[in-house]
Amino acid sequence: MKKIRKAVFPVAGLGSRFLPATKAQPKEMLPIVDKPLIQYAVEEAVAAGITEMVFITGRNKRAIEDHFDKAYELEATLEAAGKEALLDLVRHVIPKHVSCIFIRQAEPLGLGHAVLCARPVVGDEPFAVLLADDFMDVPEGTPPVMAQMTALYEYEQANILAVQDVPRAQTRQYGIVSSTPYKTNIEQVNAIVEKPDPEHAPSTLAVVGRYVLQSRIFNHLENLGHGAGGEIQLTDGIAALMKEQRLLAYRYQGTRYDCGSKLGYLKATLAMGLKHPETGAAFAEYLKEMQL
Ligand code: UTP
Repeated sequence: MKKIRKAVFPVAGLGSRFLPATKAQPKEMLPIVDKPLIQYAVEEAVAAGITEMVFITGRNKRAIEDHFDKAYELEATLEAAGKEALLDLVRHVIPKHVSCIFIRQAEPLGLGHAVLCARPVVGDEPFAVLLADDFMDVPEGTPPVMAQMTALYEYEQANILAVQDVPRAQTRQYGIVSSTPYKTNIEQVNAIVEKPDPEHAPSTLAVVGRYVLQSRIFNHLENLGHGAGGEIQLTDGIAALMKEQRLLAYRYQGTRYDCGSKLGYLKATLAMGLKHPETGAAFAEYLKEMQL
């Protein structure tokens, strides 16, 4: 049985919904309180036992590479100033046993194309995909969402999509599955369509940015033409994969914030600001004063 050791982080999108903040930096570097979205996603992968992080980068990639690289000057300055706590934060952005690999997606041809770019590194292993702009918060004591999914993978040995119910009016923003109940919180997927109109959507069960996929997906992505919006869609690759391999939809435990949108980002900031050990109590007090 193959374990999930590799995670793919497609970070080459244009982030146009967040301009001008994303003019010179990827949206995955936007911070929630004090940590960039991409670091939360990497920590989620690490918590799932994943040790190889594969970033599919595009223009303005530097900030992400630098974030996970050693920061010699910064470390030397903090060390000289005796700022041990900050030094520790900077040094432990990523654990020592974890490695980072960066692959350039020359043109933003779509999420499916971005995932296909990871093929030379992933090879024939099953792998995780995490879209860092889908920020996942879990209640205390609950494993992070990707850890929930890799545990399920180890048991089921199937392709897995994280899903949640959305209002019917929003189906145009998601891949939507048609499915039959399998087990508690797990559905067997029969069909998947990308961004259907509300009147044509087969259900309101939407795919969010966490996947566990088997390597056969690459064969299908390779043979795809351009789909919805002229892009090579991951959804189309998954639809083809589904015809030969089992595909499950998993209703994860936790709350997702769509941090690719301004409103989702603000909500995540509020939730995490209230939880943060440094800001939580004072922030709650402030919100009370403001009668929010
Ligand atoms: P989105 O649909 O959120 O697109 O991509 P986007 O370009 O990042 O953002 P907007 O809509 O312009 O605001 C979903 C995920 O796929 C990645 C993005 O980085 C994001 O994580 N992606 C998308 C790529 O890596 N390459 C692509 O060609 C397209």
